[in-house]
Amino acid sequence: MMSPEALLPPLRLLAFESIDSTNEELRRRAAAGAREGTAVVAETQTAGRGRQGRRWDSPPGNLHCSLLLRPGCAPLKAANLSFAAALAVADVIEPLLPSAALLRFKWPNDVLLAGKKVAGVLLESEIRGDALEWIVVGVGVNVTSFPEEAMYPATSLAAAGCRGIGARDVMDSYFDHIRIWYARWRDDGFAPLRAAWLARASGQGETIEVRMGNEKVTGRFADLDADGALILETNGERRRITAGDVFLPAAHARERE
Ligand code: BTN
Repeated sequence: MMSPEALLPPLRLLAFESIDSTNEELRRRAAAGAREGTAVVAETQTAGRGRQGRRWDSPPGNLHCSLLLRPGCAPLKAANLSFAAALAVADVIEPLLPSAALLRFKWPNDVLLAGKKVAGVLLESEIRGDALEWIVVGVGVNVTSFPEEAMYPATSLAAAGCRGIGARDVMDSYFDHIRIWYARWRDDGFAPLRAAWLARASGQGETIEVRMGNEKVTGRFADLDADGALILETNGERRRITAGDVFLPAAHARERE
């Protein structure tokens, strides 16, 4: 197996006090030919974005960073890299917790602490013809604060009792871990990432709700398939879901309160 260092060159980190979005800045640089391993971090973002076109609150103190990869694989395969990012975030946070059971993933790539969202991942890519030109892996971690009014209940590392770790420490450790997961994925494919994700998945085997635009589907979260899609069992049928927002039973309960 190739060493992780051989796969991803040393990062070229560009740090900003404030920027529109670290993903957007890296998109601009990728289009201009920036190399794999270019990374952008900003203390604040003025137009931070989340999945499904949502806004991502980006106050100072939290982590907002993006990494440019050029894996040279099929676009569908590269989508797996969002799981690598979530796993790397989990590797940073888990040792800080009194119990590893507090940390869970919510499909596709949210990281939850005691059932509340502490981090999210946003992939953006450029595809030409059938080929992937580049992919930007953006990660936001609520280190010191979290939005009170979020679609899904949120928390921060500080609120969850993980004090004394700053955004820069989280980032440095995250980059070390994503390097390892990236190498693992290049060597062995999605299977080990899928297994590691499922080991900490929330809601598997339970009834969950998935919102896709205006459509809401309730069913049993049966599995994560070999491409990272959510398999939902509804009325005896297995439905394969590739995009949407998952709501777990605890979150439904809170919404009804
Ligand atoms: C989500 O909706 O869960 C994904 C949130 C991703 C936020 C990060 S912050 C750094 C990067 N730049 C952005 O504009 N978004 C991502």
